[in-house]
Amino acid sequence: MEITVTSKKVSSYNIVTKESFEDLSSILIDIFPDIKCVCLVSDSNVFPLYEKEVKEELKKIKGLKIHEYVFKAGEASKDMSVVEDLAKYLLSVNFSRSDVIISIGGGVVSDLSGFVASIYKRGVAHVNLPTTLLAMADASIGGKTGVDFEGIKNTIGAFDMPSLIYMNLSTLNTLPDREYYSGFAEIMKHGLIADQKFYMWLIDNMYEICDKDKETIAQMLETSINIKKAVVERDPLEKGDRALLNFGHSIGHAVESYFEGEYLHGEAISLGCVAEAYISWKSNMISMEDYYEIRDMFVPFNLPISIQVDKKAEEEIFKRLLNDKKNDINSINIVLLNKIGKASLVKGVDQNLIKEAISEINFKDED
Ligand SMILES: NC(=O)c1ccc[n+]([C@@H]2O[C@H](COP(=O)([O-])OP(=O)(O)OC[C@H]3O[C@@H](n4cnc5c(N)ncnc54)[C@H](O)[C@@H]3O)[C@@H](O)[C@H]2O)c1
Repeated sequence: MEITVTSKKVSSYNIVTKESFEDLSSILIDIFPDIKCVCLVSDSNVFPLYEKEVKEELKKIKGLKIHEYVFKAGEASKDMSVVEDLAKYLLSVNFSRSDVIISIGGGVVSDLSGFVASIYKRGVAHVNLPTTLLAMADASIGGKTGVDFEGIKNTIGAFDMPSLIYMNLSTLNTLPDREYYSGFAEIMKHGLIADQKFYMWLIDNMYEICDKDKETIAQMLETSINIKKAVVERDPLEKGDRALLNFGHSIGHAVESYFEGEYLHGEAISLGCVAEAYISWKSNMISMEDYYEIRDMFVPFNLPISIQVDKKAEEEIFKRLLNDKKNDINSINIVLLNKIGKASLVKGVDQNLIKEAISEINFKDED
């Protein structure tokens, strides 16, 4: 599969899906005919798994110098200290503006290395080799890069388009199940905001998806990528419609940062989707039946639909939501569902309703 993401406002790039890394060198040469030096950026789990394969492949490019920078796996590394450390490393090896950063890993690796690529010497090219379902369906596409700051998700970052996204689907074979399902949450979100037929297809293919059937995964990714592509092509710099991709993320990010790593990103988004679907129902935008169906549809994909905390924690989660990037002064703005397959950004959502939604996903013993 080859999909080109094009927009008048930003540079175009290709997304290719393959079953190995064996076409990587030839595609890189097509894009960068004079490529001389790359820096592989990866995390401590992924690099040992794919270092050899990727380096073997890159050796096909005559005289290519290969540097490598590996950081500790996990969201905690999406931090300014790692940005600084990577920039220092690049300086130490005389990495120049004509060189290319290649990220190998999940969304943490592509968010961090894409951000460093956007600021190092005012910008160097970067290529993403996503290795999680979440990064393939979502994080590696669309040019949003960045790190967390002061405990708040993605506070410092930049829009910076990759030059290529090369997906080797066989890397999913080593991905732990919990990470696989976490990635599925963003795919479900794509169906919920933009394509009711796809949402139904996901439910109909539940067993194949859970069995990680190769053809089903390839088909699922193709549709999901095309949904994201259509949104980011219309609005690459998130001045309007692109915010719709944030369904589930206002409350999801608040939950994710409150629990400090207890929930994976997609798991927090699953909780956020349930809470925000609840607000959609209570705002008379979707029916009660739709709400309960959406809530229950995350369960077979091993995704959480409830947390268990005290009242004080509910308040703390609400407070974290006040820092969401979509908000204006005195107005909380949340993406809600108009129906399954259609979403809109609603401004000035009632604060009491948001608190009620957080309480709705909070499982209490008397429930
Ligand atoms: N930029 C965007 O548009 C965007 C969109 C969605 C999410 N995100 C960000 O993406 C991040 C989450 O991404 P993620 O879920 O990929 O997390 P991740 O990068 O932390 O990867 C998840 C875990 O899986 C391991 N791993 C990755 N690939 C593997 C493989 N093939 N085999 C074995 N282990 C593997 C990693 O080492 C890590 O421990 C969050 O920080 C989120 O904010 C960004």
